[in-house]
Amino acid sequence: MSRIGESHPCTMPAPALETLVVDILVLYYSRDGATAAMAQQVCRGIETIAGAQARLRTVPPVSTVCEATDDAIPASGPPYAALADLRECAALVMGSPTRFGNMAAPLKYFLDATSALWLPGDLAGKPAGVFTSTATMHGGQETTLLSMMLPLFHHGMLLVGLPYTEAALTRTRTGGTPYGASHVGFNERSPRLSDEEAELCRALGRRVADLAASLVRH
Ligand SMILES: Cc1cc2nc3c(=O)[nH]c(=O)nc-3n(C[C@H](O)[C@H](O)[C@H](O)COP(=O)(O)O)c2cc1C
Repeated sequence: MSRIGESHPCTMPAPALETLVVDILVLYYSRDGATAAMAQQVCRGIETIAGAQARLRTVPPVSTVCEATDDAIPASGPPYAALADLRECAALVMGSPTRFGNMAAPLKYFLDATSALWLPGDLAGKPAGVFTSTATMHGGQETTLLSMMLPLFHHGMLLVGLPYTEAALTRTRTGGTPYGASHVGFNERSPRLSDEEAELCRALGRRVADLAASLVRH
């Protein structure tokens, strides 16, 4: 993505603003598939915005007993995220299952390695949103979402939520919060998002992408 207003010393013409496409990073961890299903819906929301495309990335699991290394490319699913993904993307939508009311360690582990981006302020001013999946209705959706925001605030990101102008937020009987999208799994074997949960995932993707695209244009 080239920055608007940057001077171009070479003779190549700058891309027209209307053809500029910004990447929105959808970064998630999922062990049993629910957060992965949410990430797919977030991507669908992003892709409804002209000039925005989703870049889906995950993180490998971590081990408590030793520093484990994994193949750079997982056997299935999206590629593992690299710092370059965060640097290159115009915005971030980040998802994690709840772990005791907090984000999962693999995602936190990845974020803990982002000092090289924090020092020069590479993420400052970029929009971000968060989503989570829990087993139970009151198992810590809000605490997880709010704590996921903390490192993003340190990076200077602009947090985007879900206002009640999104009608599904009033209708939902399961997941969905003003702080970000959520899903309640009720310990079901295969993840099945409710219509409202899926709609709010798409709304979050759409809102983050819309803001990122307009920030790039202005
Ligand atoms: C170690 C651990 C801690 C968990 N803590 C909570 C919790 O605090 N609240 C809750 O509702 N669910 C909790 N869960 C359940 C998961 O958050 C839930 O099943 C989630 O939907 C899984 O997402 P995934 O399918 O993307 O892996 C926990 C699960 C594990 C393994």
